[in-house]
Amino acid sequence: MTRIAGAVAIVTGAANGIGRATADSLARRGARLVLADIDAARLEEAAGAIRAAGGQALAIPLDLSEPDAFDRLRERTWAEYGTVDIVMNNVGVLVSGLPQDIPLAEWERIINLNLMGVVRSIHRFLPDLLAKGSGHIVNTASFAGLFPYAFDRLPYAATKGAIVTMTEGLALYLEPRGIGVTLLCPGPVRTAIGNTMRSFTEGLPLRGPGPQFAFREAGEVGEMVADAIASNRFFLPTDDLVRPLLAERGADMEAFLRAQAMAMAP
Ligand SMILES: NC(=O)c1ccc[n+]([C@@H]2O[C@H](COP(=O)([O-])OP(=O)(O)OC[C@H]3O[C@@H](n4cnc5c(N)ncnc54)[C@H](O)[C@@H]3O)[C@@H](O)[C@H]2O)c1
Repeated sequence: MTRIAGAVAIVTGAANGIGRATADSLARRGARLVLADIDAARLEEAAGAIRAAGGQALAIPLDLSEPDAFDRLRERTWAEYGTVDIVMNNVGVLVSGLPQDIPLAEWERIINLNLMGVVRSIHRFLPDLLAKGSGHIVNTASFAGLFPYAFDRLPYAATKGAIVTMTEGLALYLEPRGIGVTLLCPGPVRTAIGNTMRSFTEGLPLRGPGPQFAFREAGEVGEMVADAIASNRFFLPTDDLVRPLLAERGADMEAFLRAQAMAMAP
């Protein structure tokens, strides 16, 4: 079980939305933060707000799609704090379009950032956590990685599905070695993620996971993540109404897919 007070916590995608809210929650509980994001101005503002509230936060502006970004993130973290305890891999971007309209280069961009960003982070920080025999990893997936509800964001869904699988496997490996793992699966959360979305098919409506899912505030999700780290919880959907859907899918994948297809028929 990771003690948050005093822990060194890295959060990627920390300038906005869920990452920023989680950084705030962890800082309020006494963690020492390292915030990484490509949006340097908002990042400095986020770190400044934590410091103004009496916390510790280092802002490291980085494009996490670059191959050596995590080397630099680790170097700066060790130089400042001399250790690392919590790593939240949270960066994710959206792309929309019909499957045949999304260019291959865009698929590669999304896979490189959303999925390989998590892979490179794990590769960089796992030796540190294994050497300590403690710590906690949070990977941000999505409902999009848990069940099919749209065909307009396939690269995004594919990376999130891969994060789900990878995080489950990591938990098998790491839990017996003293390292906690949380799979954060947000449903709809009120953030500005749509602002950076590229679209490749005109007039394509964005399909959500279902009308039963209300938007959560990022602040609520930040608290959920901090609680999950403190209590070593693995599966963290932001809405428990997803559970019956997962049970239905598990019981009969064929019937579930047909029902989802019927629900989205024009
Ligand atoms: N908001 C939702 O409804 C929702 C739903 C499911 C999953 N998620 C997931 O939650 C995570 C956080 O999303 P959010 O909604 O808070 O979005 P957001 O856009 O508010 O935050 C994402 C952050 O990532 C940063 N970023 C983008 N590209 C980057 C890069 N190359 N290098 C470094 N930083 C980069 C952005 O500047 C931004 O601060 C994502 O992984 C997203 O897929 C969000």
